[in-house]
Amino acid sequence: MPLRPLDPIAVRRQFPGLSRHGTGGEAIFFDGPAGSQVPLQVADAMRDYLLHNNANHGGSFATSRATDTLVEAARAAFAEFVGGDDPEEIVFGQNMTTLTFHLARQLARTWRRGERIVVTASDHDANVMPWVLAARDVGVEVAHLAVRPDASLDLEDAARQIDARTRLVAVGAASNLSGSIHPVATIAELARARGALTFVDAVHYAPHLRIDVRTLGCDFLCCSAYKFFGPHLGVLWGRRPLLEEIAADKVRPSPAHGAEKWQTGTANFEGIAGALAAVDYLQALGHELGADPERGRALDAAFTAIEAHERHLGARLLQGLGELPVRVIGIADPARSRERCPTVSFVSERMRPAALAAALAARHVHCWSGNSYALALTTALGLEPDGVLRLGLLHYNTEAEVDRVLAMLRELLG
Ligand SMILES: Cc1ncc(COP(=O)(O)O)c(C=O)c1O
Repeated sequence: MPLRPLDPIAVRRQFPGLSRHGTGGEAIFFDGPAGSQVPLQVADAMRDYLLHNNANHGGSFATSRATDTLVEAARAAFAEFVGGDDPEEIVFGQNMTTLTFHLARQLARTWRRGERIVVTASDHDANVMPWVLAARDVGVEVAHLAVRPDASLDLEDAARQIDARTRLVAVGAASNLSGSIHPVATIAELARARGALTFVDAVHYAPHLRIDVRTLGCDFLCCSAYKFFGPHLGVLWGRRPLLEEIAADKVRPSPAHGAEKWQTGTANFEGIAGALAAVDYLQALGHELGADPERGRALDAAFTAIEAHERHLGARLLQGLGELPVRVIGIADPARSRERCPTVSFVSERMRPAALAAALAARHVHCWSGNSYALALTTALGLEPDGVLRLGLLHYNTEAEVDRVLAMLRELLG
């Protein structure tokens, strides 16, 4: 059965936060890359957990058993969300940054002097510094994959840098600043051929495109539920043999095997309830658009529809920006919107990014200026210290919002 296209108006009804009004109209949420709004069912799931099932896990009483059931269900859902099939490959944590620092410290113990790791000049600092600091602790060299002037990763440099001494390549699936989608599968293949592991930061990618760890060919992948309509919670996927084999710092009574071995301290169970509800929301969206209700297929459909809608919005935004005195960072051609997420950063000689963000905020447009922690990229592209103005769209945004913001930018910069 052909799928129906996504209807953002129907979607928006499920997100109470989007109906916020300022004087002069509805607020426009173009701050998605820093955190999305949540559908009602996410907040309901967290409330329900806290009010009716709140307990620590592992006990024999009802609320503790309900907590175990919740965590098992969430692990199963997230295994499918990332394209895997083993719930024990899913580790929950505070956020991507904390999970990555934890993993980096453990992996570094297996590295030796003379070896190297590779990070990129495009990534969020959460996929740079955990690796750089871990490498420094054990005396391992760090190579930085170059970006081209259009903010894409330089694959020729990757082929040079990822050599036989390389133990790990840390790469983002998509840039939270330029919106570029990175050729992760190609990079992971290079890494595998040299005997290195690949860690993927899918934080920016996750709300826009269907993750599939098998196609990406990576060994670890991290994402954050608060970027894809859930609460503030980090999710790490790792190949099971690796999670088993690598020693993890832990307290003695906690489990020595499985995903629990990697979770330090008591988990954020209400966050896990909300994150599961976010996956349920996406699954239901796929089903509403005409897909089979089975989770994997419904998620495929949801992301097919999200991608098409967002590509249209992204192209419209790029088209409009092309008529303004601004320089778009990265891919600016609307015809190439397939190669990027609808996260569009730009600079203008007429107004600094912070002043522009403040002027837009006064018009009830929620968006960010600065480097959004993609410090390696803003440095490589000579955009420090002011950074950029970033407009980040999600599936709940509309054509009308894009047009309103373009009209404001014409007024402010034109
Ligand atoms: C691409 C990317 N990676 C990593 C992070 C850090 O994620 P967290 O806030 O979950 O630590 C962010 C947050 O903005 C991000 O956009």
